[in-house]
Amino acid sequence: MATQDFNDRMLSLGLARVSEAAALASGRWVGRGDEKAADQAAVTAMRDQLNKLQIRGTVVIGEGERDEAPMLYIGEEVGTGEGPEVDIALDPLEGTTLTAKDMPNALTVIAMGPRGSLLHAPDVYMEKLAIGPGMRPGVVTMDMSPSERVSALASAKGVSTHDITVCVLERPRHEAMIEELRSTGCAIRMITDGDVAGIIHCAEPTTGIDMYMGSGGAPEGVLAAAALKCMGGQMYGKLTFRDDNERERAKKAGVTNYDRVYTRDDLVSDDVIFAATGVTDGSMLHAIKREPGYFTTETILMRSKTGSVRRMTYRNPIDRSPTGRD
Ligand code: FBP
Repeated sequence: MATQDFNDRMLSLGLARVSEAAALASGRWVGRGDEKAADQAAVTAMRDQLNKLQIRGTVVIGEGERDEAPMLYIGEEVGTGEGPEVDIALDPLEGTTLTAKDMPNALTVIAMGPRGSLLHAPDVYMEKLAIGPGMRPGVVTMDMSPSERVSALASAKGVSTHDITVCVLERPRHEAMIEELRSTGCAIRMITDGDVAGIIHCAEPTTGIDMYMGSGGAPEGVLAAAALKCMGGQMYGKLTFRDDNERERAKKAGVTNYDRVYTRDDLVSDDVIFAATGVTDGSMLHAIKREPGYFTTETILMRSKTGSVRRMTYRNPIDRSPTGRD
């Protein structure tokens, strides 16, 4: 079969449907204290919808390796088997704990690009650094210390370090970094989970976040890079390894240089489309709402080719499953 062009314009609406369906499915588990059930519901719904898209898709960032994930595992073929060859990065429920506890910023997330466009990131940690659009390239770098980054960004923005807000995952491993950041007088927006949203927030002026730093999942790093490629903004990521087993995982995923600092465009090297739907309320997306007779979702849908960012509201009758229909 001849290779078809990545038709991002036509595929984008389909991608929004995939992310909406996952959110609707996991929405039933918001605040129920069951992370696994919420995740499973999202995975099943996402897979059903993905398999309706006219693509020859391969999951490159998914729920884990084949032997540990029955669905949406890395390497799984999805779609109808006709249409363009695409790579897919997904996190059917980014923030399982946030969902189970009904805390802010749980999302369903998916990105798609032509075959070969998304880094096959192993499931290890990644040191991440991100800022929003409009800054000269390299204004902050991985080589700088946390306080140097704050000073550099503040002077590039023509503001005091006190006017900079940095988003950080609240983890013991970040204590030293947080202490150093505090010495600059900057504000820190601490999040308990969900660094895809944390990074996207840098490109959304309404969130008040200027910079993201710290380590989180490498797969989430590729998803965040896909969003920033659409919205504008800079990002760097460096894989970190706790043991040889993790280095082996990276090797299996094709990593040859363990010290490499990946730029946003190394993580996502070609045009990409990105969709995320709010599961719980957040600074970027509203939660799924239940109104008499309906569920309503809010989705952000973006294309890097055009830099277009759409916000879409979808209303679905409660008694009809979105995954049961075409
Ligand atoms: P889940 O969706 O699996 O709950 O993960 C959420 C998350 O907070 C990511 O956003 C982040 O990259 C990662 O977990 C951080 O990992 P850890 O909890 O091990 O610090």
